[in-house]
Amino acid sequence: MTYLDSAIDFYRQVAETPDVGLCCVQSTPLQLPGLKIPPAMQEMNYGCGTTVHPTELYGEPSVLYVGVGGGLEALQFAYFSRRVGAIIAVDPVPEMRQAARRNLEQATSDNPWFSPDFIQIVEGDAFALPVPDASVDVVAQNCLFNIFEPTDLNRALKEAFRVLKPGGRLIMSDPIATQPIPEHLQKDDRLRAMCLSGALTYEQYTQRIIQAGFGQVEIRTRRPYRLLDRQTYGLETELLLESLDSVSFKVEIPEDGACVFTGKTAIYKGSEAYFDDRAGHILSRGIPLAVCDKTATKLAAKFSEAIVVTPSTWHYDGGGCC
Ligand SMILES: C[S@@+](CC[C@H](N)C(=O)[O-])C[C@H]1O[C@@H](n2cnc3c(N)ncnc32)[C@H](O)[C@@H]1O
Repeated sequence: MTYLDSAIDFYRQVAETPDVGLCCVQSTPLQLPGLKIPPAMQEMNYGCGTTVHPTELYGEPSVLYVGVGGGLEALQFAYFSRRVGAIIAVDPVPEMRQAARRNLEQATSDNPWFSPDFIQIVEGDAFALPVPDASVDVVAQNCLFNIFEPTDLNRALKEAFRVLKPGGRLIMSDPIATQPIPEHLQKDDRLRAMCLSGALTYEQYTQRIIQAGFGQVEIRTRRPYRLLDRQTYGLETELLLESLDSVSFKVEIPEDGACVFTGKTAIYKGSEAYFDDRAGHILSRGIPLAVCDKTATKLAAKFSEAIVVTPSTWHYDGGGCC
């Protein structure tokens, strides 16, 4: 049995018997005016953060949701798109698709604005998404890609890239590890399916997104997710997992490398009214300008006398330059 087969078995079980708190770090999912989340759906909140960022969801986007779980985020996406077929939710586990359908049926009774044909639940998997090239505005996945071994993660990221329209967004939430996870844990298929042992480090994770072709990555949130203690997990030192919410754009990778925004800013501290680095960045005196990490490094190296670069806040949601 491969690790992917045991993951399917595991998700079959948690579809039939919900495991409250399996993955999530937040007790209440994003609440929205006029949205009622059925309790059974909430119990199956198997995500580690959120992929539903209201500011990404203008213009009734088409969303391909990979790994439907209990249907919670598909419903939240439908809240914004509100049109027939706008959300396609893919899952290879029949019991999970059935549970999501049941929960969405309940959501139909509880939410007058919602119609079940807003969401199409289809059989499929992350490695062969059942839609044509360049056909969706958003691909989203929450707490799934982290369970994949590295070559499968590459396949899944490339597949997401394939189906996105130019400029489209891959919105993800996954655990990451603050140090590499030891091999004995990585090989534990059950822990992997539980989103506890497949996580990559932040650098490995973002590099893989860029290698799949995404030219811009924005970090929305990074926060503690789980502590793996020494006794339970046979570790020499405890290991902190974090959850990382990100949005990656299908735009060309600039010649000097992808732009990764982590909340850094550059602030001009000199005596003129503004500073022009002659590379496209104009900084007004004393006013922070959001910059990507690549630009932050360049400005700090070249103009340390004139510019202060502030550290990553791990929260960025637009604005600035690059
Ligand atoms: C940890 S759960 C997350 C569920 C949901 N995203 C949420 O936030 O509640 C992982 C989901 O991915 C599905 N899944 C497992 N293997 C998959 C694959 N190869 N491709 C797509 N989905 C998969 C599981 O059935 C399950 O619904």
